[in-house]
Amino acid sequence: MKNIVIIGSGGFAKEVAFLIDEINRDKPTWNILGFIDNNVSETNGKYKILQNDEYLFNTTNELNVVFGIGNPALLEKLYLKFSKNKKLKFPNLIHPNVSGDWERINLGEGNIICASNTFTTDIVIGNCNIINLDCTIGHDTAIGNFNVLNPSVNVSGGVKIGNKNLLGTSSTILQYLKINNNITIGAGALLTKNAEEEGIYIGSPAKK
Ligand SMILES: CC(C)(COP(=O)(O)OP(=O)(O)OC[C@H]1O[C@@H](n2cnc3c(N)ncnc32)[C@H](O)[C@@H]1OP(=O)(O)O)[C@@H](O)C(=O)NCCC(=O)NCCS
Repeated sequence: MKNIVIIGSGGFAKEVAFLIDEINRDKPTWNILGFIDNNVSETNGKYKILQNDEYLFNTTNELNVVFGIGNPALLEKLYLKFSKNKKLKFPNLIHPNVSGDWERINLGEGNIICASNTFTTDIVIGNCNIINLDCTIGHDTAIGNFNVLNPSVNVSGGVKIGNKNLLGTSSTILQYLKINNNITIGAGALLTKNAEEEGIYIGSPAKK
């Protein structure tokens, strides 16, 4: 069993602990030490908030870390900060029931892929993306870094998604569209044209 800590202690951090429990139920892999946040020693559901950020800067033993945070800008900030400590490792966590053509899916590090996602084939995914429950990711899709896909997002084939975007729950991205960087797609939106300018896109068809 490998030691792992979860950065953050909010609702999504608890869901990441649940994801790890599910992975362990399938194949014992991770020993959850607890959450990393500033209010050390408060309990947070099943696991403790055991240490603050300083612990991660200073640890000299190899340690696996995962982000329990659903904010794209914060994901980037914390990854850039903590990845300076080469003892910290950022594994991909994938729920055992996720299906995908794994030999043709290229994954970076630090990605969280929750239960009931479906990936098809020829997909490239960068670092530290959160793909929450029940999304579909179509063929030839590329997803950059620090993107957050909330539950039940449908990404059609050939879509290109840049960095630090948030795709709201149940949004749909039509085929071969491009989403640049720092964009929010509202819950339930249907994107029918490229989202190029930073901002919030809502509705069906989605408008900035
Ligand atoms: C689009 C979004 C980012 C806007 O957030 P916001 O800027 O705080 O907007 P507000 O809540 O102040 O709402 C502003 C207006 O937009 C409307 N609105 C908000 N979200 C909307 C959406 N997804 N689609 C259509 N209209 C929406 C509100 O009804 C409100 O309308 P009004 O001015 O006529 O009253 C946010 O509502 C959203 O959809 N976020 C994704 C949430 C999500 O995925 N949650 C799941 C978590 S697991």
